[in-house]
Amino acid sequence: MEQPIHGLDSVKEYYGKVLKSSQDLKTSACCTAEAMPVHLREILRDIHEEVKDKFYGCGSPIPHALEGKTVLDLGSGTGRDCFILSKLVGPNGQVIGVDMTDEQIAVAQKHVDYHTKKFGYSTPNVKFIKGYIEDLESAGIESSSIDLVTSNCVINLSPSKERVFSEIFRVLKPGGELYFSDVFASRRIPKELAQDDVFVGECLGGAMYTEDFRRMMIKLGSLDYRLMSRNKIALLNADIERAAGKIDFYSMTVRAFKLNLEDRCEDYGQVAIYKGGIPNCPNLFVLDDHHIFEKGKPMAVCGNTAMMLQGTRYGEFFNIIGDTTKHFGLFDCGPVSTLNQTDSNVGACC
Ligand SMILES: C[S@@+](CC[C@H](N)C(=O)[O-])C[C@H]1O[C@@H](n2cnc3c(N)ncnc32)[C@H](O)[C@@H]1O
Repeated sequence: MEQPIHGLDSVKEYYGKVLKSSQDLKTSACCTAEAMPVHLREILRDIHEEVKDKFYGCGSPIPHALEGKTVLDLGSGTGRDCFILSKLVGPNGQVIGVDMTDEQIAVAQKHVDYHTKKFGYSTPNVKFIKGYIEDLESAGIESSSIDLVTSNCVINLSPSKERVFSEIFRVLKPGGELYFSDVFASRRIPKELAQDDVFVGECLGGAMYTEDFRRMMIKLGSLDYRLMSRNKIALLNADIERAAGKIDFYSMTVRAFKLNLEDRCEDYGQVAIYKGGIPNCPNLFVLDDHHIFEKGKPMAVCGNTAMMLQGTRYGEFFNIIGDTTKHFGLFDCGPVSTLNQTDSNVGACC
């Protein structure tokens, strides 16, 4: 039975009644201008205008190698990312969007047939379910059934973020991937802003302090997640900037896997070689902001990185030489991603 999630009525009101299109947003927190990879921009041309007009995401959380996979989009809104994913998974894949707001779901559902025809499929491979991302069980999402969970500027809006992430790790298959974009903050948001409807609705009031996100992921057993991109958000609204004071907001895209990883990068003398073959990545594969694999070039990797490339859907595209039987100490895995770094944006353009 569905469990009530408290504190979401004003968010429903904001996305269902207050906003009519992305033009109505008061800041640029949703709809930051993160560069979209070229292959996705091409698909975007086929997406219905109404869906694009009502896009409120803050990134481009769509990874590679999705053909035939089952994808779940949390807080799918009017479905822009779901329809892009529908094209990428192909007729044998499946895309499920979950959203709690009737008006958003209605627009998404209205355009399913349009995109099914546009992509030349005989039956739809995308469906939208009304539900709460904190309680995916009630939305009918079974444990260990999903290859990829994605989400674009939604989890910040949840008053129960730990519930959301534990649901994500429940529904992912072993080796499955979480790849999401969201708004994060450089410090904890004071109570008065965290309870302000506009501040919350604009994806700022519920933004997680990055270190609290790290602590929560460790608590949930996700010991090594990777940063893909991080862009500082220009609020572009004098009142909201004044209220935010010294808090900096970032749009970040993060990837994590349902794998038993270690809390540090350990050296087992392993080497990874990208064999090529991932669609739209003829020469390079970007794992994160400090791992770019060139086709055919051997690269020393830590045990965690080796597992991310071997124990996931990327495994068929990599040769991993060596195993974890012999340990050589800590591995220098490059820069640890923190908010003190300059903005990074490796995107996923290969
Ligand atoms: C900022 S919009 C992003 C929508 C979509 N991802 C996009 O990129 O256009 C947030 C969406 O998340 C939905 N949402 C927020 N909190 C939710 C929750 N706890 N459960 C389900 N949906 C939620 C809202 O209804 C809204 O459609």
